Amino acid sequence: MTPLRILIFDSGIGGLTVLREARVLLPQMQFVYVADDAAFPYGAWDENELTARMVALFGDLIAKWEPELVVIACNTASTIGIGALREAFPSTGFVGTVPAIKPAAERTRSGLVSVLATPGTVKRQYTRDLITSYASKCEVNLVGSTGLAALAERYMRGGFTDEAAVAAEIAPCFVEREGKRTDIVVLACTHYPFLANRMRKMAPWPVDWIDTSEAIARRALNLLEQGDLDIAAMEPFTGRSYAQFTSGTIDPASRQLIAGFGLRPVE
Ligand code: DGL
Repeated sequence: MTPLRILIFDSGIGGLTVLREARVLLPQMQFVYVADDAAFPYGAWDENELTARMVALFGDLIAKWEPELVVIACNTASTIGIGALREAFPSTGFVGTVPAIKPAAERTRSGLVSVLATPGTVKRQYTRDLITSYASKCEVNLVGSTGLAALAERYMRGGFTDEAAVAAEIAPCFVEREGKRTDIVVLACTHYPFLANRMRKMAPWPVDWIDTSEAIARRALNLLEQGDLDIAAMEPFTGRSYAQFTSGTIDPASRQLIAGFGLRPVE
């Protein structure tokens, strides 16, 4: 019998933060993690070119893996391309990842919220519309980081973090005005939770860091429960889960990293 599969997609290793949570909530599923590392980082891509790339890629991925559900575990890819993906593959369910602006607006006490994301996510109309719809009473400071996703990649592969670089990337998130301070930073890139401890350490004052990975995994669970499957009655999946890298090359550090997440490379 074909196992029930969830495909988790990101430009790199950031979506592993979502996979980690999805594993806990959905032990019945087989996971296929796909990193479009040949195109990393997504943050700098032109909108139309990246959408076309993702639609072409998913044509192959859906045919190959026949997933029950696809999780786009990438804010940049979701805010750009989730609409086009849903249109191109109407019979496949997609869960997207978008900046957690609504929960941040509900939780802030100072009214000063920062959204830390890639330059791509910061530029998107999708992100601006979220602010208009849910955070019109707050002051939302959009901070585009050019280096953090790569710092997270490096940290996860080699254990090294340049703390001064992390401090410089997060510094614009911290705003002080009329006796008020930023009290929430939304981590609007799935790579960033891997650096959360370093960010906490280098932050000029304590804030709440909002990470959406668990909420995304829960959304996947809810969608599957709404379908015909009786997920709760299913046995845990004990077979292999896989990781596929679009570059076609998996260096030893990446191999070790994905093994730590219980994934086997697709060679
Ligand atoms: N992990 C991705 C996100 O959530 C982006 C990293 C990148 O490719 O720039 O936005």
